[in-house]
Parts: sequence; C-alpha cells; structure tokens
Amino acid sequence: MNLKKIAGEKAVEHIEAGMVVGLGTGSTAYYAIKKIGDEVKEGLEVTCIATSKATEVIAKECGIQSSSLAEHPDIDVTIDGADEVDPNLNLIKGMGGALVREKIIASASRKVVIVADPSKIVNVLGTRSPLPVEVIPFGVNFCQKQLQKFGCKVEIRKKNNEPFVSDNGNYVVDCFFKKILAPKKLQREINCIPGVVDNGLFLNMADEVIIGTKNGIKKLVR
Ligand code: A5P
Repeated sequence: MNLKKIAGEKAVEHIEAGMVVGLGTGSTAYYAIKKIGDEVKEGLEVTCIATSKATEVIAKECGIQSSSLAEHPDIDVTIDGADEVDPNLNLIKGMGGALVREKIIASASRKVVIVADPSKIVNVLGTRSPLPVEVIPFGVNFCQKQLQKFGCKVEIRKKNNEPFVSDNGNYVVDCFFKKILAPKKLQREINCIPGVVDNGLFLNMADEVIIGTKNGIKKLVR
C-alpha cells in the first residue's frame, strides 16, 4: 500500500479549473503532481508554480508547463510534503533542500495542503528530523558556530562528499535537536543570524494535512 500516493492524490481534490497552484517538492508531493498532470491531459486548465527546479522537471514530464511566481504572486492552493507535522499543524520542511522556495510559495498561498504518510506525525517538532537551515556559503562556518549555541548538533549537508547546493546557490546546515519546545522563538533567533536565509520551521502555515494511512485518509484541519 503506497501511503504517500494515497495522500498526494487525495489533495488534488482541492484544485479547481482556473486556479494558480503551487507544486511542492519531494516524494509525496510527486503523486499530487502526477495526478494534476493526468487531469491537465484531460483538459484541466491551471497555472502551476514549482517550489524547486526538480519539481519543475517532474511537472514537465507530467505534461505541466510551470509558470513563475513573478507572474503569479497570488497562489490559490499549494500542495507540498513535510518532514514533521505536530498536533498544531506546525511543520519541519526542507529535507529535500527546497525550504526557502517552499516557504515563499506557502506564504503566497491562500491555502496550504500538506501531504504525508504517518511516519511524519510527531508530538513535538525536532524529534524525528533535523531542522534544515539555508545559509549563504560565505558565512557557513560562522553560521554553523552560531547555530551550535542553540544546543544542537550541527552538520553541513553533503552530497557526493561536497556541500549540497540549493536551487538558490546556498548551503544547507542540518541542526539536530532532540526536541524543539519553543519553535516560534527558535525560528526568530535563527533567522537573525547574519548569513541565514531561512530555516525549515513552517509555523501557522499549513491549513490542512492529508495523511495516507492503512485505513484510508486521515485529515488534520486548522
Ligand atoms: C523538500 O525540501 C521538503 O520540504 C519535502 O517536502 C519534505 O522533505 C518531504 O519530502 P517527502 O515527501 O519525500 O518525504
């Protein structure tokens, strides 16, 4: 049973003809994109904005031509994945490295629908996933030191033994907390470090979380 597929496809029910739609990044959002592609082939007319270069490529393969946020700054609905979802629908995102564009797209969206399998559900943020922080390469060692002061283990994300580079040309520093008990404060303090572009805490952004379970769909609504 493909729980990511069940969740991803269900979320497409939020999409109506003529909408501007944000396309998320990752293996769960993938199934939503694929289904939107199928509906586009059957005549659905929507304008799609991708949250990453990888998603733009997938969308194209599915028959969806992506448009830009510059042309469409008001998005009706965005469907995206998450790495953690807490009981208040707060999230950690960014294990795919697309957190900055994902946060911009989520902020520009009237409705944010998160798709996930049950493994992403946590009681407290920080218990399952590291918190990704995107930083400007020039300041990476400085940012790493500053982030350590929050009491977390800090690692510069690597890909093929080299620092992972985001779509924005930046590095990602993964911060391993055991628990994030004051996410709002942490978000504010991390984003005050010079060189930090943004972090993967998505607070008060998700309107609905669709979870694919062995017994069907479970929905969490704000
Ligand atoms: C991408 O940067 C992330 O925010 C993804 O949305 C998140 O990692 C979830 O991905 P999966 O659906 O592949 O688990």
